[in-house]
Amino acid sequence: MTTLVVTRTLPEPVARRAHQEYSTRFLGLASNFDRALFIEALADAEAALVTPADQLDAATISALPKPLRVLGTFSVGTDHIDLEAARRRGLSVVNTPDVLSFATAELAITLMLMAARRAGEGERIARAGAWNGWTPDFLLGTTLEGKVLGILGMGRIGQALGRMAKGFRMEITYHNRARLGLDHEQGARYVQSIPRFLGGLDVLSIHLPGGKETHHWLNRARIVDLKPGAIVINTGRGTTIDDDALADALRTKRIRAAGLDVFVHEPDIPEVYRTLENVVLLPHLGSATVETRVAMGMLALDGIAAVLAHRHPPNQVV
Ligand code: DGY
Repeated sequence: MTTLVVTRTLPEPVARRAHQEYSTRFLGLASNFDRALFIEALADAEAALVTPADQLDAATISALPKPLRVLGTFSVGTDHIDLEAARRRGLSVVNTPDVLSFATAELAITLMLMAARRAGEGERIARAGAWNGWTPDFLLGTTLEGKVLGILGMGRIGQALGRMAKGFRMEITYHNRARLGLDHEQGARYVQSIPRFLGGLDVLSIHLPGGKETHHWLNRARIVDLKPGAIVINTGRGTTIDDDALADALRTKRIRAAGLDVFVHEPDIPEVYRTLENVVLLPHLGSATVETRVAMGMLALDGIAAVLAHRHPPNQVV
């Protein structure tokens, strides 16, 4: 039986299937990636299932034992894997696109609502027993209805978000490297100029991949271009935001509020956000539904099996 090394605990149906199809070594890592343990566990393994919490840089990839042929990642994002190093090493990589688009868009909506309607602040007051009673001006937020949503990165998740946001009667704009076809735009308005895009939106939702090209995309200069009082949402990767710049803009209320699900050095949440009432902080829950995580695991296992059988599955990135 082929050996599969799995770095983290899995949803039960995925773990069961892994057990049935492979001789499985579960490492059950809970926090930081243990590179030495991973490499040692691989030994004669031909496949491994990793997650976005496992950093597979060039040095790690070059140290992987020879028998390893395929790496499945429990994510659509692949910025934690040096894909170029994998290519050089002849290591195939499969990921989990599509199946998490709805759940991640749902979480972006959750953050938008929480940020606009001050739900985090309200919950903290309620739990602290600090609510003094209903008054017409207590904890007023702002509505999403009729507001302009700017989707940065109109891929599968961005498109799913655009469809959902129409239910809130939002006007949908987007910025991408290139304009999409009409069938994918579904009525959203493409804005090519970044300053015009940022200046014309009420809510910015970031759906960019991580990596060098998108590092600190939202920096001080671009925050200045944002419409005053805008809301910033990020469910992509933490590296795309300059945290100090965003925290400053939240502190001065130049930015009304933010909703963040991803951070640069997870699981650490940048200290600059912790004392700000107008930022909603979630621990990378974008795809965290039972249905989605099972679908992701199954898709990763499908991809691994296909590569081992010398086929090229649709979710193979290298
Ligand atoms: C991904 O798949 O890249 C997500 O960040 C996990 O939710």
